[in-house]
Amino acid sequence: MKIFSTKRELLFFLTHPAIWFRKSRSIEQLNSSPFVEFQQWFDHAHRRLWGEFPNWCCLSTVDGEGSPDARIVLLKSFDDDGFVFYTNLESEKGNQLAEQPRGAMTFFWEKLQRQVRIRGMIASVSDEESDAYFATRPRPSQIGAWASLQSTELETREELEQRYREFSQKFRGKKVPRPPYWGGFRLSPSQFEFWELRRSRLHDRFRYDSGSSSGEWKITQRYP
Ligand SMILES: Cc1cc2nc3c(=O)[nH]c(=O)nc-3n(C[C@H](O)[C@H](O)[C@H](O)COP(=O)(O)O)c2cc1C
Repeated sequence: MKIFSTKRELLFFLTHPAIWFRKSRSIEQLNSSPFVEFQQWFDHAHRRLWGEFPNWCCLSTVDGEGSPDARIVLLKSFDDDGFVFYTNLESEKGNQLAEQPRGAMTFFWEKLQRQVRIRGMIASVSDEESDAYFATRPRPSQIGAWASLQSTELETREELEQRYREFSQKFRGKKVPRPPYWGGFRLSPSQFEFWELRRSRLHDRFRYDSGSSSGEWKITQRYP
């Protein structure tokens, strides 16, 4: 089956005005901190992608046998310490991270034709941090976190809805506490890559690597 056509390429160009006039950058134009560079790209995506969540990312992990896995999660905060997401600690990803505490996050902002890849070690956030974030979630999501035994087998949808009703009843008129099997993880980056579409597949790619003794990030440009 033929997937791409010239007509489709033309349509793509017409429906992605963000890419029309942009110019290639050089290493000198990048921020020396990948966190600042990421903040700028994220803010740009936040401003430009109306009605979309710029914080969706693909989280990749590996299991104990080195087999990769990946799924979308929502980035909930980031700063120089790392990138935080929340999940069920007993889910597939939770179990994989318990065995192999490393992973990658990939952001793809389709309309902007920009991708950011981040790799690093992943550790649990503190109970206080998870509690504080859990308290900000809407009540139905809080009860949903109790109801879902994420990634384990579910016989029927009714079973899930029944659990939801039971926990709604249990916490009626009370504050919903964070389930012991739910919390946050923080990815501490050792590498970033910023990719931006350019014509003729001559895309821009810049990589930041940590590890220098001075604590500075090494920036390199890569073939697309
Ligand atoms: C847009 C989107 C956002 C999601 N956000 C989260 C999230 O923040 N945390 C989470 O645990 N799962 C999230 N999910 C569900 C995961 O992709 C996945 O189905 C679930 O976490 C189970 O993954 P696992 O079996 O690999 O642990 C999201 C899915 C989508 C499509």
